[in-house]
Amino acid sequence: MSAPRIVHGFSKLSREKKLEWLQKQAGLAEESLRQLDAHIHPDRRLQEIYEEISENTVSNYFLPFSLAPNFLINGELMTVPMVTEESSVVAAASHAARFWAMHGGFRAEVSDTLRVGQVHFTWSGQEPLLYRAFQRIREQLKQSVQPLTSRMEQRGGGIDAIRIRPGSGALPGYYQLFVTFRTSDAMGANFINSVLEAMAANFSSAMRAMEPESELSVVMSILSNYTPESRVTCSVEGDTNIFNGLDKQMSGNEFARKFKLAVDIAQHDPYRAVTHNKGIFNGMDAVVIATGNDFRAVEACGHAFAARDGSYAGLSHVELSGNIFRFTLEIPLALGTVGGLTGIHPLAGTALDILDRPSSVKLMQIVAAAGLANNFSAVRSLITTGIQQGHMKMHLSNILRQLGASSAETERAEAHFRERTVSFAEVVNFLESVRLESTDP
Ligand code: MEV
Repeated sequence: MSAPRIVHGFSKLSREKKLEWLQKQAGLAEESLRQLDAHIHPDRRLQEIYEEISENTVSNYFLPFSLAPNFLINGELMTVPMVTEESSVVAAASHAARFWAMHGGFRAEVSDTLRVGQVHFTWSGQEPLLYRAFQRIREQLKQSVQPLTSRMEQRGGGIDAIRIRPGSGALPGYYQLFVTFRTSDAMGANFINSVLEAMAANFSSAMRAMEPESELSVVMSILSNYTPESRVTCSVEGDTNIFNGLDKQMSGNEFARKFKLAVDIAQHDPYRAVTHNKGIFNGMDAVVIATGNDFRAVEACGHAFAARDGSYAGLSHVELSGNIFRFTLEIPLALGTVGGLTGIHPLAGTALDILDRPSSVKLMQIVAAAGLANNFSAVRSLITTGIQQGHMKMHLSNILRQLGASSAETERAEAHFRERTVSFAEVVNFLESVRLESTDP
């Protein structure tokens, strides 16, 4: 076997040369090449925008852009754009949104939008010396980054506070500058990172000038995606009789109690909690992606928050006081409605237009409502019909497409599976029998 060849300067190659290289290296089939070509946008200007979003771009990867109507959030009826590859997510969000719109809708509140940045450093001197010197230069540090913060200050943001946090006992001499920010309607990652890097340079030179006997060495300067104080609480509430009729076997009251137990299980069992929260992120991520926000940051933060008490737990809660059912999601979110991809990806702009150009605070409320809606639908299915009935029905068209079903076959399959459980194997069997039928003399 020949040794793999390292490629140099790949990013400088034209798209054609990149694909030529790929064909040689990976023996890429003609059909795969055709697919890459077929997904290039015919509008050259749009294609250039997509190409510039990432590097080494050779095509575009489409995901459906969907709408979930009937989201009543704080008394305002909204249609929520969602981008997801999971077929049942938009239907689940829409069903729950409509159900709750008929019962008062979602109430959502944002407690704060505080962002966090850290300059991680080591200090070779005495700890009290570090703290004393820092007190003397704290204001100067803030001033030193004024050229970077002044525009954000005009928009109502900027640095909130700077302090020194002792590091971990396991890492002798390690400390951090812990800087909190407000970033108005921006997610603020670039702003925070630029400020931190400038602040770190000023901090080390000021400390060197004041305490030449000791050494301060900056390890790294970076925002933290953990923003527990940028938090949204979203809930729905109603008398348990609103659930009457949701399930043939259970009264509304029984439904509410079983629902609460299912949500409580996620409070106590991490295996269940991860899946429970995944159902919440199904809805949240779809809106986060549609609006050009960073879903990895949202996920990382949400999961850390879910483990804040030392063990991973569900992010939503149910309270039942007498007949009053209250279902709440509390989660930290750092989102932007200006800057970053929101201003570059044409469909992120459209998604924000659909939402009537919300502030970042309002987007937090909408994203949380989408999370709670999906969570409600998932738990509702789990405690009644089971998840597979609805799920696999939505999945049926994907399976049929995968198996190359014609439109006549698709129609017959949809009729056949209306009252039956869908599984890949069952669909294969069904199609085989239909195809055999049509070849029978
Ligand atoms: C599937 O994408 C999400 C669910 O598994 C969530 C849950 O179990 O709560 C249905």
